[in-house]
Amino acid sequence: MATNPSFQLFSSSNDTPNLSLGFLDSSEPPLSPPPPSIEVLSSEVSSAVKCTVEPVNLDGLALLKGRVSTKEVFGLPNSDLVPGIYEGGLKLWEGSLDLVKALRTEVQNGHLSFEGKKVLELGCGHGLPGIFACLEGAAAVHFQDFNAEVLRCLTIPNVNVNLSEKCQPDPVAETRFFAGDWGEIHQLLPHACESEMNLNSSSEHGQATGYDVILTAETIYSISAQRNLYGLIKKCMSHPHGVVYVAGKKHYFGVGGGTRQFLSMLEKDVKEQVQFFYHFVASNVILLDPF
Ligand SMILES: C[S@@+](CC[C@H](N)C(=O)[O-])C[C@H]1O[C@@H](n2cnc3c(N)ncnc32)[C@H](O)[C@@H]1O
Repeated sequence: MATNPSFQLFSSSNDTPNLSLGFLDSSEPPLSPPPPSIEVLSSEVSSAVKCTVEPVNLDGLALLKGRVSTKEVFGLPNSDLVPGIYEGGLKLWEGSLDLVKALRTEVQNGHLSFEGKKVLELGCGHGLPGIFACLEGAAAVHFQDFNAEVLRCLTIPNVNVNLSEKCQPDPVAETRFFAGDWGEIHQLLPHACESEMNLNSSSEHGQATGYDVILTAETIYSISAQRNLYGLIKKCMSHPHGVVYVAGKKHYFGVGGGTRQFLSMLEKDVKEQVQFFYHFVASNVILLDPF
């Protein structure tokens, strides 16, 4: 099925030698056309794939996460991801745990509140940061992943198991799920705009535009996809009060992305109407604030 090489991502802060496979240290190969963008309904949760639930302890915050087999869902061997086919959402990456911890600290310090907010998690996989936003009182949390299978087999079950336990009888956030590529998914996202940073007008869906908080972890590994991700952030962010939290490694060997490269892209983006202040709220979590 997959013609693209599979590979594993390694961090520059990791002592593990660079043993990754595939096209490392070369420019990124052309990818197959992305899957069509679709909304996945929570009722479409997959019962065909075995999902076991396990606890995750985040410095005292207990969440639950599912575990499914990449082989069972995608017919792929034990690979981190296959560019353009499967983008790694079935694995729980370190950055999303760091992001939840950083968000929790932000909330505890009074720097952030999710109460009543519209939240978007991009490249969600397990969706733990978005789930944390639900538990903290967000009004709406929209989850996006490249692969609809990830949403059906993992994200939706994770949302269900975490929210059914903790949110009764309080009202639960509106949760919706969107699959597709960052270059196209804005057409489906309810609070996104057609063009970057043009969020004063209404979207074609007729709702107020822009997300108050955008969350994303371990999504800035590929330089080409990173440009689309950044463009999407600008189409989705509520301006001027929206904020964006990006968790990632400083450098992803072999694929060229990472926080260093992402920030350099932001700094070069001087032509844009809106630019960002940024600072690190944890060693690998950046807060972007538009000005
Ligand atoms: C390495 S996984 C990280 C998953 C999760 N955030 C975590 O930290 O555990 C990268 C995520 O980015 C998303 N992604 C990567 N490239 C994408 C693209 N071109 N368009 C849309 N989503 C993409 C995938 O869906 C995947 O869930």
